[in-house]
Amino acid sequence: MRSTTKNPIVSPDSNSSRRVRTLAVDIGGTGIKAETLDERGKPITAREKIATPKNASPRKVIAVIKKLAKACAPFERVSVGFPGVVRDGVIYTAPNLGKGWAGFKLDSALRKRLDAPVRVANDADVQGLGSVSGKGVELVITLGTGVGSVIFVDGHRIHLEAGHHPFHNGKTYEDELGERALKKKGKKKWNKLVAEAINDLARLFIYDRLYIGGGNARHIKIKLPPNVKTVSNLEGLLGGIKLWEEPAPEESK
Ligand code: BGC
Repeated sequence: MRSTTKNPIVSPDSNSSRRVRTLAVDIGGTGIKAETLDERGKPITAREKIATPKNASPRKVIAVIKKLAKACAPFERVSVGFPGVVRDGVIYTAPNLGKGWAGFKLDSALRKRLDAPVRVANDADVQGLGSVSGKGVELVITLGTGVGSVIFVDGHRIHLEAGHHPFHNGKTYEDELGERALKKKGKKKWNKLVAEAINDLARLFIYDRLYIGGGNARHIKIKLPPNVKTVSNLEGLLGGIKLWEEPAPEESK
């Protein structure tokens, strides 16, 4: 894959057409992280992190990504995990960010600012792409500021918004398992709720495997069923590479 855009940060050496470096960006509710990966998803720069601005509008988030991109240059393409519903590079929802996202064409906005091809997908989808085996029914949930979800059938992904689905007592999964709930209820109670959620999800999706990622997966202390495992941020990074192996989405103009 070779970028057709004139990227001033691409080194002009003769090997550059064989080296495809991916800037992997993860937009979260508390931090925006980025690092550059080689073809196999191995980090070749440090992981840079800048706190998500308050009332994180598209303009503020793009300014942060520009700074991160500068610190992680050079790269030939960009993958972005976004904490809301994304279709063909266009944002539909952003529950844990600021206003102004509905209808925002994040892929084309970043393509112009970074002068490199950009793919944007939901953050849980990106984590999932790097985690699943590609066989059978695989559910992925992420536990962070929000609760993300995606299901894969033989490697084909269908984005879910289970986080905003009712869990119990009029509360959603995100109300009960998101960052605010973890802080408010404490780890012990939160772990009990995680166990309950796993039970519910198993009955609903009849998955072969469930992967649990996100920054708070590390607080899981309960014994997990054999077909359930936690996955790390490293797998999430690999998703930034896998996103480029999918058929090209419609690019927003
Ligand atoms: C959003 C999801 C996102 C998740 C994790 C939820 O609030 O609706 O789209 O994947 O947070 O960031």
